Amino acid sequence: MADIYDVVIIGGGPGGYNCAIRAGQLGLKTAIVESRGKLGGTCLNVGCIPSKALLHASEMFEAAKTTFPAMGVIVGEPKLDLAVMQKQKAEAVDGLTKGVEFLMKKNKVTYLKGKGRFAGAGKVEVTGENGVETLATKNIVIATGSEPMGLPGVTIDEKQIVSSTGALALEKVPGKLIVIGGGVIGLELGSVWRRLGAEVTVVEYLDRILPTNDGEVSKQFQRILAKQGFAFELSTKVTGVEKKGGKLAVTVEPAAGGDKRTLDADIVLVAIGRKPYTEGLGLETVGIQTDKRGFIVNDHWETTAPGVYVIGDVTHGPMLAHKAEEEGANVAQIIAGKWGHMNPDIIPGVVYTKPEVASVGKTEEELKAAGVTYKVGKFPFMANSRARTNHETDGFVKILEDAATSRVVGAHIIGVGAGEMIGEICVAMEFGASAEDIARTCHAHPTMTEAIREAAKGVDGWTMQT
Ligand code: FAD
Ligand code: NAI
Repeated sequence: MADIYDVVIIGGGPGGYNCAIRAGQLGLKTAIVESRGKLGGTCLNVGCIPSKALLHASEMFEAAKTTFPAMGVIVGEPKLDLAVMQKQKAEAVDGLTKGVEFLMKKNKVTYLKGKGRFAGAGKVEVTGENGVETLATKNIVIATGSEPMGLPGVTIDEKQIVSSTGALALEKVPGKLIVIGGGVIGLELGSVWRRLGAEVTVVEYLDRILPTNDGEVSKQFQRILAKQGFAFELSTKVTGVEKKGGKLAVTVEPAAGGDKRTLDADIVLVAIGRKPYTEGLGLETVGIQTDKRGFIVNDHWETTAPGVYVIGDVTHGPMLAHKAEEEGANVAQIIAGKWGHMNPDIIPGVVYTKPEVASVGKTEEELKAAGVTYKVGKFPFMANSRARTNHETDGFVKILEDAATSRVVGAHIIGVGAGEMIGEICVAMEFGASAEDIARTCHAHPTMTEAIREAAKGVDGWTMQT
């Protein structure tokens, strides 16, 4: 226990490594402890990055079959080399995780490979490549992330019955894929395998997919995905999955109860949400409280134990990499005695399907429930010149403005490039913009972003064309 650290971070995902980098930049003596053998966490290793690599590659594959000929580009029937597709995914992951390791060195952060646990106040015990060592530290940041939620009656083996981790690593395109859960993972990874040739059925417990998104977005998005070939079983629950002669028998029944049916599948993907990961951390040894669902409670990122902070998926808020990153940098600032602030109302969420679904701020349902009077502006990509020339007309932009304050309080986009476009609305909201501010801002022509401007105009009823 030679050195006393200013901060030890447990977990090397986007929350942890961004916290470490900022702490290093601020001159704090910093260590990061990671047990998976590589930095980058869920996001870089088995989440955001590999899923986007496969989404992009599978989108190319499908475009070669459908969009290319429609635009007069004749390349013949494309063939799939799944091994190459998986290899380029692995290379993207590898390059980025090594990049994060380099950033640790650059910012003078000590990286310890091993499992961290609390060993009393101000002490972290690390079991890893150097045996067991105990670090003494003034501050500790918990950034241990999350893990997939399981379903009773369904045993995940990561081969035939998979979580997102197994679904990212399949070596063969399944004939029939059943996805349990119509949320972000189900629709993104369902899209990958459908584009590559699988028949995909999504079984969703609630009566709509993406249930926390704006209702109008969920409805239209489901129609678009159905047109692409997705099948949906809504208001339906899975009660068990059985292995039978190399196939899977999935038993379903109405969510409200009723007659059982059996669906057959080659692969089942369980994607019903994720839960906080705190196994073996020894939270009880320092009196850190969790809520009923296991999330670590915090007040401005400080836990119930003094000098112990928490960030990312293991605490409250959306389970998103950029939310974890933002929290990580803020906590480093706070530990260094500087400001640390994040606006929880302006965290964008993107589903990286084709088209993408992007949203920020409130949905119409949330505004209604809160009794807020609001105005709506909407514009379809069908009426946007760039979308039409690109053969990408599915979707719309919807902007919601608080009628009393004239501030934009929410935006919801379905459209190709929606994930890039939503950034403009985030900046506008951070600056307290009205829809009129966006509408009076010159947008380049011809771009998809003109649909944002037209939707903003629509809030006050002066949209030019619909
Ligand atoms: P994590 O990334 O989970 O990192 C925590 C790390 O802590 C892990 O590496 C773990 O090994 C380590 N750890 C845990 N306990 C210990 C311990 N005791 N000692 C040492 N190390 C420990 N989010 C987005 O914003 N955009 C996306 O496109 C996106 N795509 C996703 C796709 C998939 C398939 C999945 C599963 C998730 C996706 N996410 C996405 C969510 C995103 O991955 C998480 O929100 C993000 O990784 C959370 O970061 P974190 O730092 O809190 O935790
Ligand atoms: P999710 O919360 O997005 O969706 C889970 C879905 O499963 C919901 O629609 C829910 O109603 C449904 N469900 C729950 N129990 C069910 C049951 N028993 N039977 C059938 N349906 C059931 O969770 P998901 O997709 O697992 O993703 C986990 C987290 O990872 C999310 O919080 C998300 O933020 C993050 N993530 C983010 C991505 C992105 O930003 N693009 C991509 C992938 C994951």
